[in-house]
Formats: sequence, C-alpha cells, structure tokens
Amino acid sequence: MSNRPRILIVGSAGQVGRELQRSFSDAGEIVACDRKSLDLAAPDQVRETLRGAAPDIILNAAAYTAVDRAETEPDAAMAVNATAPGVMAEEALRAGALLVHYSTDYVFDGKKSGPWVETDSPNPLNAYGASKLAGEQAIQRVGGKYLIFRTSWVYGPHSNNFLRTMLRLGRERDSLKIVDDQFGAPTSSIELANATRTVVDGALAGQFGAADTWSGLYHMTCSGRVSWCGFAQAIFARAQAHLDGRKPEVNPIPSSEYPVPAMRPNNSVLSNEKLFARFGVRLSPWESALNEVMSKLEKDSAK
Ligand SMILES: NC(=O)c1ccc[n+]([C@@H]2O[C@H](COP(=O)([O-])OP(=O)(O)OC[C@H]3O[C@@H](n4cnc5c(N)ncnc54)[C@H](OP(=O)(O)O)[C@@H]3O)[C@@H](O)[C@H]2O)c1
Repeated sequence: MSNRPRILIVGSAGQVGRELQRSFSDAGEIVACDRKSLDLAAPDQVRETLRGAAPDIILNAAAYTAVDRAETEPDAAMAVNATAPGVMAEEALRAGALLVHYSTDYVFDGKKSGPWVETDSPNPLNAYGASKLAGEQAIQRVGGKYLIFRTSWVYGPHSNNFLRTMLRLGRERDSLKIVDDQFGAPTSSIELANATRTVVDGALAGQFGAADTWSGLYHMTCSGRVSWCGFAQAIFARAQAHLDGRKPEVNPIPSSEYPVPAMRPNNSVLSNEKLFARFGVRLSPWESALNEVMSKLEKDSAK
C-alpha cells in the first residue's frame, strides 16, 4: 500500500458515514459513495464500483437501518445488510484491501443480565438484527482483512437519530412518554468514527501484528448504560440552551405501552473489553459523548 491509501467510504451520507469522512479526511485519498452513486441492493453494482475504485480500505457505513420497516421488508434488509457486505468482503479479499463494517447490539435477544461479549450467542428478535447478523457471518465466511464493529444506539449531530428527535419533540411538546425498560449504551457517531480511525491506523501500521491476529469482530460502544428514558432526561438536562430554556417532562413507560412492529432487546449493553485488550482503545462514557455532540450542535446553530 502506498503512503496515501485509497479509502472508499460507502454510506457517506449517513450519520456514521459523515463522521468517517471527517475522521479519515487526512488519512489518504477519500472516495465517498452515497446511495445515489452506489446502490447496495444491486450486488453487481457493488462489485463493479469496488473494482473501479480499487480501494486499500473500504469503510462500510451503509445499511438498511429502518428497524421497524424491516419487519415488512426483510428481503430488502437482507440485500443491503447481508448480501452486499458479503460481496464487499469477497472484493476486499481479492484486492488485499481492509474491510471495516458496522453491526449492531440488536443481534442479541437482551436476556442476559450483564454486558454482552463477542462470544455470546446471538439471537436477534427482529428482521433488522437477523439481517445484520447474516452480514457479519457473510464477511466472516469470506475472511481476509476485516474489522466488524458492533455498536449501539448511534446518534450524532447529523441525520435522523434519537437525540435530534428528542430536540424536535422538546420544542413541540410539554411532556413525553419514553420507554424505560430497554437498556443500552448511546454511542456518538463522533466517538465511533474517531475510534475507527485509531484502530485502522494502528492495524495498518503493523502495531497489532499480522492481519490474521487482529481481523475479527469487536464490540465498540461508548461506556456506561442507560434506558431510553434516562437518555432523554439527560438530553433535556443538557439541552436548555438549544430549547430556549424549555424542559419537557419525561415520563417513563414500559415497552408494552409503546407498541412498535419490531421487538427490541431489554438489555443490549455490550462489553468493550476485547477492543481495549486488542487495540488499547476505549470510547468515552456516553454522558461526555453527549456533551460533545450537544456542544457541536450549539456551535453549529450559532454560526
Ligand atoms: N443507528 C443506530 O442506532 C445503529 C445502532 C447499531 C448499529 N448501527 C450500524 O451502524 C452503521 C451506520 O449506521 P448509521 O446510524 O450511520 O445509519 P444511517 O444514518 O441510517 O445511514 C445509513 C446510510 O446507508 C444508506 N443506505 C441505505 N440503503 C442503501 C442502499 N441500498 N444503497 C446504498 N446506501 C444505502 C442510507 O442512505 P439513505 O439516507 O439514502 O437511506 C444512509 O445514508 C450501520 O451498519 C448500522 O447498522 C447503527
């Protein structure tokens, strides 16, 4: 690989894709693909684009992420979340490139009481989780140089996410009912993209030994745990400036009072010990990551 690797960012318009463009901006020659330039539902197009771009590093941040819609469109979710990553892995292996891919806490059924480790058996409760698990397995079957990062509850300054939905609802309503029996680790797209850069830099610089010793599946989330309701309360406690001093009342409800098409796990907290042990990388606690994203939103809105 040259000193200036070619880096293909797939899903460049998504919340993680946008942050990867920032965190890798000085790492090499960036080729950014959004859905318009590369449709992952078309495997031939994936193969052709990858061969044409000839990247040294493929960062795949694209996914079918509509968790509830996937229940009625499981084939569409499978095509994007499982078939396409498998093709990317084949093309990465063929070219000797590194494939970085993201997966989800929703591969687990939530029935464990402590944090989930990479060797725990997945058992997805919904079609989205099943499609993401199939994507992990497709990449693992092909092998080669790959990093799969399972993350959770991703939010950030851009695109649709829980934080931005809460800020919108906080301006519109005096009180909200939020689910309080699902626990996870909110993970900012900024933290995720920065940690990805650190791991990729170290791996390609040979800091962690030969690729077959570090290729694999790792959990990568901010630390700590909270319910959606607790996360909403923390958002409103921090968002006073953003909401002109308004602070809606946040009332906890059980999942049973908020019926949605896709079931979600009650506990999807992931252990990040494998990531730390292998790469020495730890993401921030979710509270300080939230602070950073809120500061960024405040700075952006003051511009
Ligand atoms: N968001 C979460 O809470 C969460 C939690 C755990 C894991 N993850 C994983 O983290 C990764 C990044 O997610 P994210 O939060 O950044 O999601 P996101 O904001 O929804 O971005 C996903 C991107 O994929 C694109 N995409 C969807 N279908 C496509 C297709 N057929 N061809 C090409 N591009 C397509 C979307 O384009 P459009 O905007 O045009 O649809 C969007 O830009 C994904 O692997 C996701 O599964 C996310």
